[in-house]
Formats: sequence, structure tokens, C-alpha cells
Amino acid sequence: MLIRIDKFISSQRSDLSRSMVKELCKKGKITVNGEICKKSDFKIDTDDTEVYVDGEKILYRKYIYIMLNKPQGVVCSTRDGASPTVLSLVPPHLFRKGLFPAGRLDKDTEGFVLITDDGDLAHKMLAPKSHVPKKYAVALEKPWEKDYFLRFKEGMVIDGNEKCLPAEFAGDENNLNQCTLILHEGKFHQVKRMFQILGNKVVYLKRISIGNLSLNENLALGECMEILHKDVEKLLTFK
Ligand code: URA
Repeated sequence: MLIRIDKFISSQRSDLSRSMVKELCKKGKITVNGEICKKSDFKIDTDDTEVYVDGEKILYRKYIYIMLNKPQGVVCSTRDGASPTVLSLVPPHLFRKGLFPAGRLDKDTEGFVLITDDGDLAHKMLAPKSHVPKKYAVALEKPWEKDYFLRFKEGMVIDGNEKCLPAEFAGDENNLNQCTLILHEGKFHQVKRMFQILGNKVVYLKRISIGNLSLNENLALGECMEILHKDVEKLLTFK
């Protein structure tokens, strides 16, 4: 793809505006394939051009994929309302225009939220037909019961007419108020509503994986990390 050097650099480095890049060009701080580039409207081919800014290589990424460990109290939306949004937790070095959360967690749910600017991947991940598994760690008000496994496996009907796909329940034998649940779809408040059908109540919910990619255990609540390209595929590969 051919793109102006100032646009290219500012799209990859959120700390550099186009006017800042222009100044850096004038000062001879930008090189293109080893040659100083003084013209900020110079066009480069993103596929085979090495660009350095002040000695630092620009690593071209068409899209960015960010793993956020969402804390409670933060909403999965792009617009500012009364509560902070997941986008407000993206640090400047990862931030770029067009980011959005791919899928939603409730305000009081913690855990893995994918934030990206790749609409195609988000669509593949979220399309009802894709059945990408999402695993949740759940704490319940009352102990889980032996029949839960089958009830989830059979596919539950919630709110009278919403048929759920079979889900995989695993109760914790050492703590009967804890379990994990794998869903292959994402209906509104689904985990909470499913346990409600069983006469129980979710008191804590955390998403711990999407597809074959698990939430990084070293990522503190509220922290983000970039998902490396080799791991991005894991979001969609699970069979
Ligand atoms: N199910 C819920 O009930 N809430 C979430 O945030 C995610 C799944």
C-alpha cells in the first residue's frame, strides 16, 4: 500500500502527530530505506520500506490486537458516558484511531476483552455461526449441583424461548461455589441468566479465554498488552 510518510508514521505511533513528523522530517530525523527523507509528503510502500524515526524502527502493523484484563466498573463501549470505557485503559503507545472492543462484557464482569481495529476479525469472532468458545470463571451464591453438567450440555432455554447452544460446565470439587463455563455464543447476560434458570446466582464473573487464547496471568486488572500476530490466530482456532 502506498501512503504518505507523515500519515504512515502517525498512524503507527500515537505519540507523533503529522505536524510533529513534518518537523522531524525537516530536521533530517527520518530515514527511508537508509536515506534521510526531508519531505513529509513522500510516499512509501508499506510492504517493503524500512522507516526509522530518530534511530527507532517503525514496525508496520496494519491492525492492532490488544488483550485487556477488564476491571469491574468499566464499560465495553467506545463512547464516554457516566462510566469509563475500556478504550480509556489503552495506553498511548498502543492507542490508535478506529479501536473498538470486539464483544461485550457486563460492567461488573472482569477479564479478557479484545480491543482491535480489525473489523473482519471481530466479525469472524462474533458472528453467531462462528461458535468461538469463551471460557468464564464463575463464583456462585450457592454450591453447584451434580445435574448442572448435563443441564448445560443439553442446551438450556432461557427466558422462555431463547435456546442456548450446549455449554461445557466444570465444577470445582474443592470449592463448590466455583466453576468454569465455556459458551459458544454470546447472548445478553448469558452466563448470569443460565445460572438463574438453575436457581443459582452468579456473584463473580471473569472471562479467562477466547478461542485458544487465554488471558495472560501476569496481566493485572486494568492492564493491556499487545497480542502478537502468532497468537491472533488462536482467537479463531479452537477446533
Ligand atoms: N455472560 C454474562 O452474564 N455476562 C458477561 O459479561 C458475559 C457473559
